[in-house]
Amino acid sequence: MCGIVGYVGQRPVIDVLLGGLKRLEYRGYDSAGVAFFQDDLIEIRKSEGKLANVEKLMNGSRNSYPDARCGIGHTRWATHGKPTTQNAHPHRTGHVVLVHNGIIENYQEIKRDLISRGHKPQSETDSELFGFLVLEEMENGLGLFEAVRKSFSLLEGQCSVVVMSEREPGTVVGVRNGSPLVAGLDPNGGAILASDAQPILEYTNEVFFLENGDIALCSQGGIQFFDLKTGKKLNREKTKLDWSVDKIDKQGFDHYMLKEIYEQPAALVDTLNGILDRIKTDPFPLAAQPGVKLLDQAKEIIFVACGTSWHAALVGKYWIERLARIPVNVELASEFRYRDPVLNPGALVVGLSQSGETADTLAVIREVKAKGIPTLGITNVRGSTLSREANSVFYTSAGPEIGVAATKTFSTQMLVLLLWAGYLGLKKSNLEELFHDIVKLPHQIEDALSESNGMVAAIKDAARGLQKAKGFFFIGRGFSFPIALEGALKLKEIAYVHAEGYAAGELKHGPIAMIDQDMVVVVLAPQDSWRDKTVSNLQEVKARGAKILAVGGGLDQNLKELSDFWIPLAPSTEALLPFVMTTVVQLLSYELAVLKGTDIDKPRNLAKSVTVE
Ligand code: F6R
Repeated sequence: MCGIVGYVGQRPVIDVLLGGLKRLEYRGYDSAGVAFFQDDLIEIRKSEGKLANVEKLMNGSRNSYPDARCGIGHTRWATHGKPTTQNAHPHRTGHVVLVHNGIIENYQEIKRDLISRGHKPQSETDSELFGFLVLEEMENGLGLFEAVRKSFSLLEGQCSVVVMSEREPGTVVGVRNGSPLVAGLDPNGGAILASDAQPILEYTNEVFFLENGDIALCSQGGIQFFDLKTGKKLNREKTKLDWSVDKIDKQGFDHYMLKEIYEQPAALVDTLNGILDRIKTDPFPLAAQPGVKLLDQAKEIIFVACGTSWHAALVGKYWIERLARIPVNVELASEFRYRDPVLNPGALVVGLSQSGETADTLAVIREVKAKGIPTLGITNVRGSTLSREANSVFYTSAGPEIGVAATKTFSTQMLVLLLWAGYLGLKKSNLEELFHDIVKLPHQIEDALSESNGMVAAIKDAARGLQKAKGFFFIGRGFSFPIALEGALKLKEIAYVHAEGYAAGELKHGPIAMIDQDMVVVVLAPQDSWRDKTVSNLQEVKARGAKILAVGGGLDQNLKELSDFWIPLAPSTEALLPFVMTTVVQLLSYELAVLKGTDIDKPRNLAKSVTVE
């Protein structure tokens, strides 16, 4: 996910920018750059790949421009255009230089208008276009601050920008509208802006969290906040972050599990970077790796897994069968290994395990491999037993997961399977669009998780209202069924509350007898092809007195009216809905566990890797 740092003050700016970007590296990126004032002119250094490439462009030293005191920096996760140096930020348009995080949804319209007025954008990005709008306003006589404010009103979508102009050296203007932006005052004079508090904590532990619709004006004198729409001055309160060492480790979150839920956008970025070859032309091929060959040869895929990984495989089955028309079976490793299953020639057995050490999954891989059946592993741990013993391996790149409950590893497992489905399906149909949607997924999850979106607040309300419930059913159809299973598992394991996941159509075949006013039914009914059928099942349990917590499309008024608690989802393409719903069931379990006071990161009786059968 893109990361932003902006600074003006008394310190050498290159050091502040590169140090700050380093702290944002965890967000995942594929190119980086900085822009800084050298006297009254702005210099830009940017490169594809890692931040170290930018450092090399600074004559290998952060101290090579010791007098520069004002600048902006960026790490880019490419959504519009490939991850090349030309598309990297900062972008220059005449005397205007900017960095941007998020998506400008109406960029095609803006681009058309700009071209018709004689402008020539140099990159493939949506971001660069904003510079032209600011430039035009400045040419019409506005100052930088007003030009940014006016131009921003033309943008649709969720994004943040930070802008400078050679006409106003020593001024940095930042806008937040969606993607997070945090500010701090440098005790030595000046101000710093960044995508999260980490780069700022180095200088001060008092920070301002910009709200959506805030515009900040930074100079040597400090920082002022204004309302983007009206231009009126705002008073933004400082927040003191007196984090303990433990909390710094958890980056301010109360638990690792919560931190890891919020790390999902970055985990998705890193996994995409590891598996897709995005430098090649669209649609992006899977990066060359031996496992791809095994996939190509598979006539049938058998997933073996346990727990949450098994749920990810179930989602994968829906995708692979639907998009690639290859038969898929999903097996519990502990059952499969003792069942003497039939293995057809052409079968590929895939062990799915975040730890790569789960005893039952490994046993299956060993046994089928000994029978000459090709095996693949999908794991988050490099060097794990699964990665060494399967014929080949795909890695998720979720980073270390400390909380025992699997969260970000689950999302990244689903992502690998969606990429497989897309890759295998591409040979048969036109799935370019899917790949374009997938690269926007991390942004979409970041937006869904942002406090301003409304989803998180609704989940907290629901948890407060339901904390005394005696039991939960999670129901869904299609992709939502495995997510229902995952929701129930999460609630059991971290909140110790009895919960069951069910295919919505199955309830009336027995479990509906359990339904009364003490039972909560969590209905996963997003706007997809199964929505109406799931809503019919909702009616059946509602008629029997169940409390309904419905999760659905934000505009689904009908579903909202049927529910006692309502969690709206942001719009999403059907293929990406499981990822958004996953964040809902994870956070719901987390909030209920907080209210119950359980040991969230180390639930009783559980271990992170289950190395016994
Ligand atoms: C649940 C959870 C477990 C694991 C299961 C398999 O949050 O973490 O259900 O998913 O023990 O573990 P791996 O994926 O390491 O094989």
